[in-house]
Amino acid sequence: MSVFIVLLGAPGAGKGTQAKLLAAKTGLPHISSGDIFRENLKNQTELGKLAQQYMSKGELVPDDVTIAMIRERLSRPDCARGAILDGFPRTPAQAEALDAMLAELGGRVGVVPFIDVPEDELVERLSGRLICRAQGHIFHKKFNPPKVPGVCDYDGSELYQREDDKPEVVRNRIRVYLEQTMPLVAYYEKKGLLVKIDGTQPIDKVTEALWAVLPEEAKSA
Ligand code: AP5
Ligand code: MG
Repeated sequence: MSVFIVLLGAPGAGKGTQAKLLAAKTGLPHISSGDIFRENLKNQTELGKLAQQYMSKGELVPDDVTIAMIRERLSRPDCARGAILDGFPRTPAQAEALDAMLAELGGRVGVVPFIDVPEDELVERLSGRLICRAQGHIFHKKFNPPKVPGVCDYDGSELYQREDDKPEVVRNRIRVYLEQTMPLVAYYEKKGLLVKIDGTQPIDKVTEALWAVLPEEAKSA
């Protein structure tokens, strides 16, 4: 049975940073709904243009669109062992849809690490975040600086600031997170899958804490 890891956490909690590290260690694919929307926007697809209308304001893309996109992604062969999910699900309807999809695919949610970071730190993280144009590698001006300013350590591409990391959009993203995504903490707690992780630790310590709670099947490629 395939095993899916659901990373929960506020905007800026470190989901993307940790998902990339865990994907490299486990060999499982990293599936970020935000990255897929941004990739579609870069390619000017209809999905990308639609998603942008919501993302630019810090609102969620409608559930039906998001669920259909993830359904297609999870049906690809590279998800046969499972995946690290980053940013999906983030509403109760998405969580229920994920359970239904996994029941069809013969998979299960193995663990739901909730990366907990206080709000004032989230704002500082997002205001200093830098992303690489080519593959979305994540840096921070102060907390995780690239070796050469403005250049990605991994692929040499240009680093930029995300449009939705402007302070007024960040505030709305946090509000939307508290209203629409926080209910998932109780949803997964009830299922006995939630594990709280202290997201204020240094990046490598957070990775260690996550590694310790991963199911064994996720660790063995
Ligand atoms: P998405 O791209 O998922 O953004 P998000 O959830 O707001 O999360 P972020 O990517 O901002 O934060 P992160 O937790 O990944 O943190 P990161 O590792 O980068 O979604 C964007 C938009 O797309 C949404 O607003 C919505 O419109 C739409 N969308 C996406 N999914 C959707 C869905 N399922 N349904 C509907 N709409 C959806 O780290 C942040 C910074 O902190 C970095 O600079 C990093 O270097 C630094 N950092 C990381 N860890 C540490 C640490 N331990 N110590 C110090 N600094 C750290
Ligand atoms: Mg992210």
